[in-house]
Amino acid sequence: MAIALIVLAAGQGTRMNSDLPKVLHRLGAAPLVAHALAAGRALEPERVIVVAGHGAEAVTKAVARLDPEAEVVLQDQQLGTGHAVAQALPALAGFEGRVIVLYGDTPFIRPETLEALAASPADVTVLGFEAADPGRYGRLVAQGATLERIVEFKDASEAERAITLCNSGVLACDAAVLARLVAGLGNDNAAGEYYLTDVVAAARAEGLSAEIVTCPEAETLGINTRAELARAEALFQARMRAEAQENGVTMTDPATVWFALDTYIGRDVVLGPNIVFGTGVTIESGATIEAFCHLEGCHISRGATIGPFARLRPGAELAEDVHVGNFVEVKNSILGEGVKVGHLTYLGDADIGEGTNIGAGTVTCNYDGVFKHRTTIGANAFIGSDTMLVAPVTVGDGALTASGSVITNDVPPGALALGRAKQVSKPGLATKLFERLRAQKASLKKGA
Ligand code: UD1
Ligand code: CA
Repeated sequence: MAIALIVLAAGQGTRMNSDLPKVLHRLGAAPLVAHALAAGRALEPERVIVVAGHGAEAVTKAVARLDPEAEVVLQDQQLGTGHAVAQALPALAGFEGRVIVLYGDTPFIRPETLEALAASPADVTVLGFEAADPGRYGRLVAQGATLERIVEFKDASEAERAITLCNSGVLACDAAVLARLVAGLGNDNAAGEYYLTDVVAAARAEGLSAEIVTCPEAETLGINTRAELARAEALFQARMRAEAQENGVTMTDPATVWFALDTYIGRDVVLGPNIVFGTGVTIESGATIEAFCHLEGCHISRGATIGPFARLRPGAELAEDVHVGNFVEVKNSILGEGVKVGHLTYLGDADIGEGTNIGAGTVTCNYDGVFKHRTTIGANAFIGSDTMLVAPVTVGDGALTASGSVITNDVPPGALALGRAKQVSKPGLATKLFERLRAQKASLKKGA
């Protein structure tokens, strides 16, 4: 069964009190909308349409980065969820199959739940949940197993408000049926909006079938305020930590390890306390990350040891058994097997061959103020402490740079490069200098 997703993300999120569109606020280091997209992507949809409105430019940019195959359509005015879906329908022209509508601000929907919805044989299927506090949710009015209609809180009678089975907002419907029903929606209701929820009663009036699939309330949690965002972050992190432990990851102090939406960690990885993952990190089995590391957009292979106090930035690609120690930053660099970079170093835009040792205080001077340049170091080279590698520059296999060198020219394989001023020692001169300075200080004191 072909599937298309429509993700509603046009709302302003007034209660966030923010210039940033709500769906771009971050949860697990990724925009909220990334969570809905990731859950939906698990169904391998043929088409993904995101409806943007408030902050559409920023949302469009973010979606292009997160999910390049998704299409963004504009809803100029937020006239209701039904109107939002209507804006997406032209982009689905020619699509035959089931459409799933979900919200960009509802990050906890599980792919399994969406699968159950997609697999439902009814013409219209709504994801419902038993609400602990039904509040202002739409209520599901059912007769036995049949969903008859959804009534919005504002429009509900006392008896309808007493219903605790609520609408999550997620809905599945055959594409052609949805297009027909949405075209017929009106806005004669308490909010003056085109309610997507009205497609249920319209379907039933045509004699089509409608049913409810339920999920735990936790999955339908929407984010409307900063406080809710913080609570969602706590829930998200708790889930990620538990999952990591189930997958065989040791964490000394799980509460201080912060995961991103897409963090992947292999078995028998050991994570020390106070580690923060940005997006795009994958760690293979048996690697160790010591305390106080910040990792983003990097790949760490088996047996590597990182930190304490290391920073791996996007494009850091570490082969097996690499060691990156304290106060080392690595960006857009490939470190071959067994490379050791133990202390106080910046490696940016570098390729480093296997077995090479990078001494303390090494810096790849990769930026000239306008362009970035690469540094290439061969295998089994030895970069002396405090070497400045002024890129673009190449150091050959087995070469050695003397400590304190500024390397501006390529170093051939096996060569020793010295790029520092020659040392001069003047016998007795330090003693003489100190005697003179001390005498000066003494005479100053007398004068005072
Ligand atoms: C909606 C449902 C309600 C359900 C609740 C669950 C309708 C009419 N009501 O109510 O039954 O219980 O969600 O949270 O559908 N959006 C747009 N364009 C619009 C309007 C909304 O993109 O014109 C997006 C919003 O950004 C948001 C989502 O749709 O992500 C839901 O909109 P919201 O206004 O929060 O709907 P509710 O009134 O909460
Ligand atoms: Ca809402």
